[in-house]
Amino acid sequence: MRSTEEFAWVTLTTNDNYGLGALVLAHSLKRAGTAHQLAVLVTPTVSEAMRDRLKDVYNVVQEVNVLDSQDAANLALLARPELGVTFTKLHCWRLVQFEKCVFLDADTLVLKNCDELFEREELSAAPDVSWPDCFNSGVFVFTPSVDTFTKITEFAVQNGSFDGGDQGLLNQYFGDWATADIKKHLPFVYNVTAYASYCYLPAFKQFRDMIKILHFAGKLKPWLIQFNSQTKTAATPNEYAHAQDLIQHWWTIFCDNVHQSLTDNMITITITITIPITR
Ligand code: UDP
Ligand code: GLC
Ligand code: MN
Repeated sequence: MRSTEEFAWVTLTTNDNYGLGALVLAHSLKRAGTAHQLAVLVTPTVSEAMRDRLKDVYNVVQEVNVLDSQDAANLALLARPELGVTFTKLHCWRLVQFEKCVFLDADTLVLKNCDELFEREELSAAPDVSWPDCFNSGVFVFTPSVDTFTKITEFAVQNGSFDGGDQGLLNQYFGDWATADIKKHLPFVYNVTAYASYCYLPAFKQFRDMIKILHFAGKLKPWLIQFNSQTKTAATPNEYAHAQDLIQHWWTIFCDNVHQSLTDNMITITITITIPITR
């Protein structure tokens, strides 16, 4: 009988940019008062400096090798050629020291305590706004198991993924999610794709105070938006104006809890923040 350390929130980063997302995510979980552990999967390309910062806030920083779909055709359909590496998420099933986990993309932000998610079973997830009979794999409840890891990776080799990333693969593997058990459908408030809310603004306005987890799904990540340290405002592009305060919230946590621990060489060229990085 294995001794398990109960429950953990799990995320992944394959580079220092998403590492910034993982740092802000961890602080948002702590601000929300979670009682559970935090684990992050890192690949060899994540710098030592970023790993040191991640170790400040994650109970487990686990190095894993990159799993990449190499599926240029389907990733082109998704218009996200860089997401082949999301197959690396599958390593989350190998965290067998935990009894049950919730995976969170590194571009998510926890706004309220969501520890009740650990009462759900594998594979629980929220509908994807663009095709609600698919779940979005940015937030999902799972039970670590080497056997499941082996089965999913073998399935991936045999079948690939219809979107070239983990979401297509997981929706194929857990193919009955849409119909088998409504208890495995998480309410949308656990995975509110911040930018997609534009398509139904009245609901976004009506229910925004119920949002528990924000998800900055899409190309424009908060850490790629220029931030002015004098005015303390993020220069949100017009097409994302409706999500300005959500992006601002991400930057507030970044400023309050993350940026003072970063060093110059951790800020990559794609991030043009105007906050002077000391140390
Ligand atoms: N990810 C990563 N490195 C990458 C791309 C993705 O570590 O180069 C991880 C990260 O945790 C990210 C998740 O895979 O949140 C899914 O990618 P993303 O959030 O960009 O997809 P989206 O939600 O925008 O479709
Ligand atoms: C989806 C999900 C993301 C997943 C990606 C690739 O948009 O938000 O978590 O990694 O597609 O499948
Ligand atoms: Mn995401």
